[in-house]
Amino acid sequence: NLGVINIPVYVHVVYSNSAENVSDQQINSQIAVLNEDFRATNNDLNQVPSEFSSVVTDSEINFTLDGVFRHANPQTSWGTNDAVKNEYPPITPETHLNIWVCNLGGGILGYAQFPGGPSNTDGVVLLYSSLPGGSAAPYNEGRTATHEVGHYLNLRHIWGDGRCNRDDFVADTPESDGPNYGCPSYPTVNCRSTDMTMNYMDYVNDACMYMFSEGQKERMRAIFQSGGSRSAM
Ligand code: ARG
Ligand code: ZN
Ligand code: CA
Repeated sequence: NLGVINIPVYVHVVYSNSAENVSDQQINSQIAVLNEDFRATNNDLNQVPSEFSSVVTDSEINFTLDGVFRHANPQTSWGTNDAVKNEYPPITPETHLNIWVCNLGGGILGYAQFPGGPSNTDGVVLLYSSLPGGSAAPYNEGRTATHEVGHYLNLRHIWGDGRCNRDDFVADTPESDGPNYGCPSYPTVNCRSTDMTMNYMDYVNDACMYMFSEGQKERMRAIFQSGGSRSAM
C-alpha cells in the first residue's frame, strides 16, 4: 500500500494575449479541483446514484504546484502535434506532471500522453479557458484537467474507444457503446447495462462528471508500484 501518492506539478502558461495568460489564482483553483476530484472531496460526489455508490472511491492521489512558467508567444493557437511541448520542453517529467495551458484550436479541450511514452512530450495540454472560471462553458469547471490527468495516469475512456465489446481494462465501469455528451439523465442504458456517465472518463459536461471507480483507482496506482514514480506498465 503506497498511501497517498503526491504528484508535484509544473504549469507552463503559453499565451498570445492577456486572456490566455491565466492568473495564479486560476491555476491554484485548478490544482484544488484536481485534489478534490482525485481525493473524492468534490461537493457533487453525493450525486452518484446508489447503483454505483459501492465503487465510488478516493484515488488517494494528491497534486502540489511546484512552479508556474509563463511564456509570451505570438502563435495564436496550438494543435495536438506537441509543438507547444517542443517549444517549452517538460521539466523533470520523471518526477513531475507537466501541464501546458494554451489556446488549443479546433474545439479541443485538452490532450494527454499515457504512461510509457517519450519523456520529451510527457504531460497534459489544456485549453486555457477550460480552467475553473474560464470561458469554455460547460467545460469551465476544471474537469478537463481531471479527465486528462486520468489519461496521464493510464485511464482509457469508459467506452473503451469502441462499441460494447471494447474494454477500458477496468472491470467496474460498465460496458458502454460510445461517449455520452451533455448531462445525461439517469439511467442511460447501453450494452444492456447502465452507463457510468458521471465518470470523469466520459465526455459529459464538467458539472455532470464527479467520480472515479475503485477499478480505475487500482489501474492508476498500479503505475506507481515499481519504485514509486509513474512508469509504464
Ligand atoms: N475530449 C478531450 C479528451 O478526450 C477532453 C474531454 C473533457 N471533458 C470535459 N467535460 N471536460 O481528452
Ligand atoms: Zn479523453
Ligand atoms: Ca469497463
